[in-house]
Amino acid sequence: MSDIELVNPVPVEEARPWLAAVSTALLGDPYDDDFSRRLARWTSDWIAERTWGARSSGRWVGTLATEPRRITVPGPDGGTGELAVDALTGVTVGVTHRRRGLLTRMITESLTAAKERGDAASILIAAEWPIYGRFGYAPAADDATYTYYSRHSGAAITPSGTGSVRQVDPAELGEHAHRIFAAARARRVGQVDRSELWWRRSLGLGGFERIGKTPNYYLREGSAGPDGVLAWRTTQDFELDGSLGAAEVVELVAANDDAYRDLWALLSGLDVIGKIRLPDRPVDEQVRWLLPDGRALKRTYSGDQTWLRLLDVPAALSARRYSVPGQLVIDVVGDSMGFADGRVLLEADGAAASCTRTEASADLRLSHRALAASYLGGRTLRQLAIGGGVEELRAGALVRADAMFGTGLAPWNATGF
Ligand SMILES: CC(C)(COP(=O)(O)OP(=O)(O)OC[C@H]1O[C@@H](n2cnc3c(N)ncnc32)[C@H](O)[C@@H]1OP(=O)(O)O)[C@@H](O)C(=O)NCCC(=O)NCCS
Repeated sequence: MSDIELVNPVPVEEARPWLAAVSTALLGDPYDDDFSRRLARWTSDWIAERTWGARSSGRWVGTLATEPRRITVPGPDGGTGELAVDALTGVTVGVTHRRRGLLTRMITESLTAAKERGDAASILIAAEWPIYGRFGYAPAADDATYTYYSRHSGAAITPSGTGSVRQVDPAELGEHAHRIFAAARARRVGQVDRSELWWRRSLGLGGFERIGKTPNYYLREGSAGPDGVLAWRTTQDFELDGSLGAAEVVELVAANDDAYRDLWALLSGLDVIGKIRLPDRPVDEQVRWLLPDGRALKRTYSGDQTWLRLLDVPAALSARRYSVPGQLVIDVVGDSMGFADGRVLLEADGAAASCTRTEASADLRLSHRALAASYLGGRTLRQLAIGGGVEELRAGALVRADAMFGTGLAPWNATGF
């Protein structure tokens, strides 16, 4: 253990061996053709100060990085607002150095840096459930995978009649995708932002090379201009014996309901394809309500996706809005790192919300992880209560809290990081 050196910042000149360590630990291959493409992506926005590593005998055996990202939070009138967050990524420890506290050391430093920077919360996508709870993260937004049986008798979707969809090449899509996604993202809580750089990397523009099979790209245009993006690729060919092919949707981004309908209508009309897989989708995919037979869409998987860790409770609770007006005094407890604990008064009234420290007697005692899990409105405190960390100190407070924190649509994040 003594030969291990914890490094921060990690200079960009170390990006190749550092990323090779990430790739190896996350079951990738640092020697395949895609590695140099991934390296070009990583180095395009490398932040040395927000990159950690552990080195042993000159070799990277631990990696961790954080990105400055934004996530949508519940806003006024059922809309959304924005919260700047610390986004954790690239977390690995080499198999030869696991369970010796290296992750603990790196994440303690990175969370302390995020707290000092003033971030109200940190987010991540967990490879495995048991890893991050001990560091204060809780699953706050779920996602789902669907199979859409497009040849099912009740699977047809009629277009809205208010726009058109046409196939485009990546360069043309690149001119519109960023703006369309920004508008679509504002329609859901839990959506992490995508920069223009993100789109250039994804579409293989501006010197970046695409990774994997290039999808077919479509742009939907309504009366106010481009408002929908669809990308799909085939995953199985059709046969002349009548067997139909299969496809997978890579992007389905709609800035309004008509765009959403029209992109699904295009999917419902694909020839020689019978099965369309849609990973990384919301748990409450609304297309079910457009289908003549809702069972043409099957949810094949659903689980935790974005995890959230509160770093500054008054700032995080003041940054969002609440579905109904109300007041709550919450005793936040259980944070071994000491970032989130304390008693706060939450006051919400329509478009206004404030959360301040208080000495008043508490209505609820919540573990900071229970509060993090319910922060985006994706689950009720009453659901979580069975696992502990939810204590009602004044009758009626739990029902009130659930009504205040809840959102109409389930939180969902479509963007990996
Ligand atoms: C997950 C990973 C980074 C943990 O690193 P590590 O240095 O071994 O973690 P630590 O030694 O600091 O572990 C701290 C605690 O978490 C526990 N823990 C760590 N990873 C765990 C896992 N995958 N499942 C269950 N418990 C885990 C350890 O047992 C330890 O518990 P203890 O304090 O009670 O002994 C490492 O195992 C890894 O790289 N795994 C493969 C890649 C991966 O999953 N990365 C995460 C991407 S989101």
